[in-house]
Amino acid sequence: MQAVPQCPFDHHAITDAEAAWGTYDQLRDQGVTHSREHGGFYVLSRYEHVLAALRDPDTFASGQGTRIPAIGDGMIIPLDFDPPGHTAYRALITEHVTPESVRGMVPGLREMIDGLIDGFHAKGGGDWVAEVGLPLPLNVLVQVVGFAPETVAQFRDLTAQSWKQISEQDLFAARAGLFELVRRELQRHRETRPDDYITSLIGKEIDGRPITDDELQRLLLAFAVAGHETTMNASGSMLRYLVEDPARQGRLREKPELIPAFVEEVLRYSSPVQCIGRCTTRDVEIGGVRIPAGSRVLLVYAGANRDTARFDHADAFDVDRGAAGHLAFGFGRHQCAGALLARTELRLVLEKLVTMPEVEYAGAPDFGGLEGGAMSGPSYLPLRFTSNRSPDGAGAWR
Ligand code: HEM
Repeated sequence: MQAVPQCPFDHHAITDAEAAWGTYDQLRDQGVTHSREHGGFYVLSRYEHVLAALRDPDTFASGQGTRIPAIGDGMIIPLDFDPPGHTAYRALITEHVTPESVRGMVPGLREMIDGLIDGFHAKGGGDWVAEVGLPLPLNVLVQVVGFAPETVAQFRDLTAQSWKQISEQDLFAARAGLFELVRRELQRHRETRPDDYITSLIGKEIDGRPITDDELQRLLLAFAVAGHETTMNASGSMLRYLVEDPARQGRLREKPELIPAFVEEVLRYSSPVQCIGRCTTRDVEIGGVRIPAGSRVLLVYAGANRDTARFDHADAFDVDRGAAGHLAFGFGRHQCAGALLARTELRLVLEKLVTMPEVEYAGAPDFGGLEGGAMSGPSYLPLRFTSNRSPDGAGAWR
């Protein structure tokens, strides 16, 4: 067994998401590392190590929470659960978000997305994140899950606030506002019984007994948090990579059949969820390092997704590479339950954009830091269409 190198970074202290890529390179070079921060944890960042952990979810378990530091364990259903609980909980989502049901959602999603982008164009562009990136997944939560528009309107601020508190405060306290919101939604659904997914959940059974309100709230919390900011970040990154190389826009216009590959490369290259935790249930050896039972382990999906041992010229955005196998949605037992929906949303954005004038920067973007030590995407993305340029012919911002 080799000595374990000290981890050179603290995921809660990354204020410049761009600089994090260099840190991930360093981490991969070192192999498995250990940090004394946040109660102590191991870090896996090479593709082969992260995948090995994901392939062995009984050893690298989620049931003691997926956050480092370990706070609010068991907060989110199904993310923070192991089987048998996880299996029953996850089925409540996968039965609703099936390939067939997502296909059925496409006309409604397309209309909503086209409307958002047409509105953005009509007003001369603006901050993509605030004006399209955020409303898009929030509207999906209204259409697909059944949240009220007034409820989803509060998700972003409450989530951002909770991430700020998460490294030092109990997650239950940090998420109290969101919890209260989903509690009120459940109450509204009980009283008015709209024909939607939330109402359908109210009558469900888990292991032969009725699902409890507490379980329902934790499940809805997964939609509230996982369902909005990941997609917001992914669409922001997607627009960023489009405007940073106008040739990419030209190619997609000429060959719209490249759109799905473009979406996958955006996910690989940007890794909207950069890392997530596990806890070992037994002693395990990985990369020549013995990790004792009961250790927290950080899986750095962003590091794995740019590992040159798995992806040639991994630091380059290359739509032709075939990004299949990326870990932006995780892998295996906890692989993102909304992946197909998210991919569909991103594809529909591009399908609309290729019918419009080119997009370009209208000012300096801000790529932000790692929210909650995990979430990455532009925080401010001022864009316009070339048709929105001022009449004096002023060119793109750069
Ligand atoms: C581009 C957008 C998205 C990204 C990058 C993303 C990423 C992820 C990742 C990495 C995981 C795995 C966590 C782990 O390994 O423990 C995950 C899980 C999950 N995601 Fe997503 N997600 C996205 C969109 C969505 C959407 C739109 C929804 C629902 C509407 C959703 C719902 C979930 C749920 C419920 C889980 C937990 C699955 C389980 O534990 O079995 N996600 N997501």
